[in-house]
Amino acid sequence: MNAELTRNNDSKAYYTFRDEEKEVEFKRHDMPTPWMNYLSNGTFHTMLSHAGGGVAFYKSPQIWRITRYRFFHLPMDRSGPYIYVQDAKTGSYWCPTSEPALDKPEEWKSAHGMGYTRFEAKRGGIAARTVYFVGPHENSLIWNLNLTNEGTEAKELKVYAYAEFGMMEFMRELQWQCYNKHQVSVQYHEGEALVYRYGVENQPKPEETPLVYLAADTPLAGYDGDREEFIGSYRSETNPAAIENGGCTGSTLLGGDPCGALQFNVTLQPGESRTINVFLGTATDETEVSRAIFHSREAGFVEASFQALKENWSGYLGAWESRLPDQDAERMINIWNPYQAHRNFLFSRNISFYATGTFRGVGYRDTAQDILSVVPFDTELALDKLKLLLGQQYRDGHVNHYFFPNEGWEPVTSIHSDDHLWTALSAWDLLAETGDAAFLQAKVPYYDGGEGTVYEHLRAAIDFTASQLGSRGFPLMLRSDWNDQLFRVCREGKGESIWTSMQLGTVLLRMIDLAAAAGHPEDTVRYGAMYELQRELVNSIGWDGRWFRRAIMDDGRFLGSDEHDEAKIWLNAQTWATISGMADVDKGLQAMDSVREMLDTELGIKKIHPSITTFPDPADPLTNYNKGTGENGAVFCHANTWAIIAECLLGRGDLAYKYYRQLLPNVAMDKAGLWRYKAEPYVYASNLFGPESDKFGLANVSWLTGTAAWMYVAVTQYILGVKPVLNGLSIDPCIPADWEGFTVKRRFRGCVYDISVTNANKVCKGVKSITADGVLLEGNILPAYPGRSSVKVEVVL
Ligand code: GLC
Repeated sequence: MNAELTRNNDSKAYYTFRDEEKEVEFKRHDMPTPWMNYLSNGTFHTMLSHAGGGVAFYKSPQIWRITRYRFFHLPMDRSGPYIYVQDAKTGSYWCPTSEPALDKPEEWKSAHGMGYTRFEAKRGGIAARTVYFVGPHENSLIWNLNLTNEGTEAKELKVYAYAEFGMMEFMRELQWQCYNKHQVSVQYHEGEALVYRYGVENQPKPEETPLVYLAADTPLAGYDGDREEFIGSYRSETNPAAIENGGCTGSTLLGGDPCGALQFNVTLQPGESRTINVFLGTATDETEVSRAIFHSREAGFVEASFQALKENWSGYLGAWESRLPDQDAERMINIWNPYQAHRNFLFSRNISFYATGTFRGVGYRDTAQDILSVVPFDTELALDKLKLLLGQQYRDGHVNHYFFPNEGWEPVTSIHSDDHLWTALSAWDLLAETGDAAFLQAKVPYYDGGEGTVYEHLRAAIDFTASQLGSRGFPLMLRSDWNDQLFRVCREGKGESIWTSMQLGTVLLRMIDLAAAAGHPEDTVRYGAMYELQRELVNSIGWDGRWFRRAIMDDGRFLGSDEHDEAKIWLNAQTWATISGMADVDKGLQAMDSVREMLDTELGIKKIHPSITTFPDPADPLTNYNKGTGENGAVFCHANTWAIIAECLLGRGDLAYKYYRQLLPNVAMDKAGLWRYKAEPYVYASNLFGPESDKFGLANVSWLTGTAAWMYVAVTQYILGVKPVLNGLSIDPCIPADWEGFTVKRRFRGCVYDISVTNANKVCKGVKSITADGVLLEGNILPAYPGRSSVKVEVVL
């Protein structure tokens, strides 16, 4: 990369959004980092970059990783499912993905869409269009390649499809590849395919480990199953030996470094086009492999798969469509935010360009929050996930922190003060979305035996917290609360979390509804009393004078107090004081004013201030993160979402919108500069380096972050104010005063609410009137309309 390029921060030179197509298009392959997409049918997945690098896995990247991706290694973004196009006469070759061959296309662009990534490239009169996607009908990555001869002479081409197979168990590959690699094989299958078998001993689930096939719908001119033969030594994907030496060698592999390479020889007359489809897939056994390949080669299979993918996404995203005065926000809300949130729901925090997919399985806390953003789109998916989580709960109400439903590994059992409480929020949202309380009676097993109804699980969570209060009356911190690092000041088990008290309060308000809906009115009184008690504590012991304190440390001192020099103020305690409804009005406002004064930056709100270097003890500081990074004074985007909600609850729409807009990824990127921001401009990152870092604005850990779910909730339910509640759809926007209005089409309980909001009075908040199909409504909650397909709603602020 040359110096001139690194200074070019003009994002238009790199990408554009194509909102009609729900795509983002890339103009350069040499982005600051790989900008990823996830292709998936829920079982077979591929993470693929804008330049063709990426990794495929079946169900689990821990134990069934199919291809190899070299996390953190140079060259960046290797390997991937690559195609090489070679001029048979001259021998020169290039890749439609631009990477990894040295010869670059003369014209090139790529794009990520909903569940697919496409590449369009030209070189030497040959145009190549490739679409990669995972269709719903087979567990395979489909590489749909179309070649056209745009020149005036016939062209003889050699075309190669290549993927490097790794050991499926990535961690064991790192540890013991020297011997285990001799237990894998790549064989030529009679149906013109390569079949990779991962036969390594002591796998967690050998009977469920699939075979991997690489096949095409075009006759093969050659193949290789041995990476050494195809790539050669002291070479890489940039200059494969087989391609330079005239073609594939016909290697198979019984032990060694596996790969799949297919060769096709194609002659194209001027103007002629040819399509080659390649399938990288999994199947349970040889018979299934044959069946899957046969099926994939049937005429129309690829087109039908792509069509079905498109329909699935338009059905899913069809639950919501808004038109706003702010196009950046509109695009995010209608397209990329729900798309990202869905990927979080699928992958938890497991595998991304930043996370290696080796140990994080499903996080209880993380996934419980992800559910919130899937409820509006697919309540069945959401309920299944809720039950999966509740299956990780013990009879006493606490839960496993991470668990491994695919891998069958032992869960991580550390007990946190917040984990088990999150699920009540998802359950309440499900109830509000469907209006049907029946699921609260569904039976779900406890992790340590026996079973209980969904409601009993939720009640057990409250009971657990009630049994774990500290000497001041707040919930004990236990291993941590939402802020992962807090164990450092609570190791002795005496520390208490003031934030968890606020989370508990938020949950108790929901539990009062859930208890009533589940037929347990006796619990509502108890929950109300608990809430009152915690509320008093928060406003007394929890109040520091200008903001709320964060915790009480083992040594009895407060964390998040003006009396210290570092980590005086923590964002979460200010936002949740209001979200929970606990803060006395003046304190809630004052606390959020302190957020604005002390934590807000032009690139988002910092999690704490000032950053920690020596607190509370230079020999054992609360965190090892450098100033301004990660959990220490960075802009933690996930926690910013709660500031947006809190400001909406306080009615300050301009401020709420400032907090929302400044973190829109493309907006933040433009402000920070593309080469500083680095991550994708279409999905949220977990955090941005804060102003105390010399890399202020560097975005980190994109894609998989609770930011996605909560931003979605914050903007749709609080800023736009369209929020399902138990008795209908509540409309209570809190917008910038200068907005003239906006519209939303939202699917709710089987009916499409076509809502148009006008704001001639230039207010932030306050619904003056609502009519539904011309009929004036009392209050601001729209009822359900069973049997109706649509209703026209006019809202005046
Ligand atoms: C990460 C974790 C999440 C945690 C947060 C704050 O995002 O995935 O569980 O709550 O960091 O520590």
